[in-house]
Amino acid sequence: MKSEYDFSGAFLSDGVHEDCLKKDSRKIADAFSHVIDNMGKGWQEWCNLPYCSENELDEIIKYGKKVAEKTEYLVVFGIGGSALGTIAVANALNHLHHNELARDKRQKPKLYVEDNIDPERMASLFDVIDLETAHFNVITKSGSTSETLSQFMIVIKRLRDALGDDFKSHITVTTTIGKGSLYRAASEMGLKTFGIGEGVGGRFSVLSAVGLVPFAILGYDIKALLKGARTVTEASKNPSPNENPALKAAYLMTEYLKQGKNISVIMPYSDKLKYTADFYCQLWGESLGKALNWSGEKVNCGQTPVKALGVTDQHSQVQLYTEGPFDKIFTFIGVKNFDNDVGIPSCSALRDYDFLSGHTLGELLNCERKATQLAVSDSGKPSFTILLDKVDEENLGELLYFFMYETAFAGAFLGINTFDQPGVEFGKKATFAMLNRPGYEGILENLTKKH
Ligand code: PA5
Repeated sequence: MKSEYDFSGAFLSDGVHEDCLKKDSRKIADAFSHVIDNMGKGWQEWCNLPYCSENELDEIIKYGKKVAEKTEYLVVFGIGGSALGTIAVANALNHLHHNELARDKRQKPKLYVEDNIDPERMASLFDVIDLETAHFNVITKSGSTSETLSQFMIVIKRLRDALGDDFKSHITVTTTIGKGSLYRAASEMGLKTFGIGEGVGGRFSVLSAVGLVPFAILGYDIKALLKGARTVTEASKNPSPNENPALKAAYLMTEYLKQGKNISVIMPYSDKLKYTADFYCQLWGESLGKALNWSGEKVNCGQTPVKALGVTDQHSQVQLYTEGPFDKIFTFIGVKNFDNDVGIPSCSALRDYDFLSGHTLGELLNCERKATQLAVSDSGKPSFTILLDKVDEENLGELLYFFMYETAFAGAFLGINTFDQPGVEFGKKATFAMLNRPGYEGILENLTKKH
């Protein structure tokens, strides 16, 4: 593994201790087999994505370059799993003020990932982009999400009005081939379409065409992203939790959940990794928040994911984390080497702060991460730390796939279906019913009767 996984803060004498790994070896083996035996099957097709063929990747890279040449504004329309991976990776790999940079410094299109349908946001988007040099990647796995389809309908009209028949070259669609309304519409209109594997769920799709197409347009090294994801995939095949950090993390998280740690705080100490926390929150929340277990018994389980940013949230949340209730487990994420570290010079008028000079902001940030981890440990709360060597494609591929395997193993420990989202689907159908979509008439009446 490229990253370091430090579990020293996770074992507590009055919580889960090292001996538990031995005592629970049967349970760990069962959860391990549940995930590993299903790799590549059913809803675990995402396990195969890191092994995508060079030819397929080269096709995507070629397409990305072609689009990038004529694009100043790349707009991604999608929501949930169709957006959060792209946001996490793009924020990590782009300059932090990417869209504000002049073209010669930026050397790639500006990026707008529109994962909401707030009309103000849509109106504002059209105020800052120029349709002639804009490219829209419309992404929906199901091809039937109202939010994304309404964005698609709006942009088609705008493009047609502005560019006539040329509108087609400004849109790329990513959806399940042969299924859903978007696939049908895109085929009818002759739009360039990329497919998402049937067994790749939204929140597990970042390294399918969902993420790879925008990443290729933005010129990222998609092969390195996949290489990082392969590293975790291989490590996750090791039955020993001490050699398999995702398995070990999942075991700890679910054991602590049983002991009342209902909240999982994820806290990257890196602005570039800020949105990997959002990616994690969706995975953890939507995958593990389930009413029923494998036997159909009501369990209403889940662990509420909470994101925090170091050091910003030290001055907002850490008081609660240290002295507040014993209901949390923490995942800290650190970065060893920053691409652009900034030295702290001395300042003669600030002599009593001379201890800072000669250090860098990166050193201070890491020092504060360790200090917060110590404070959390000292207050009797469990935590573990993931330390990336640097923020690049390979490390990111590893981090995102680590979260995915951690989630898959956690679901197996909890004995629930990790890969469905009936609660989300119900909301989508209720929206159809409210807007009088034929075929969805009964839904609201049934709901009213139930309550
Ligand atoms: O993880 C999931 O399955 C969901 O969060 C979906 O990604 C989200 O609801 C969007 O669905 P779709 O990509 O089908 O539009």
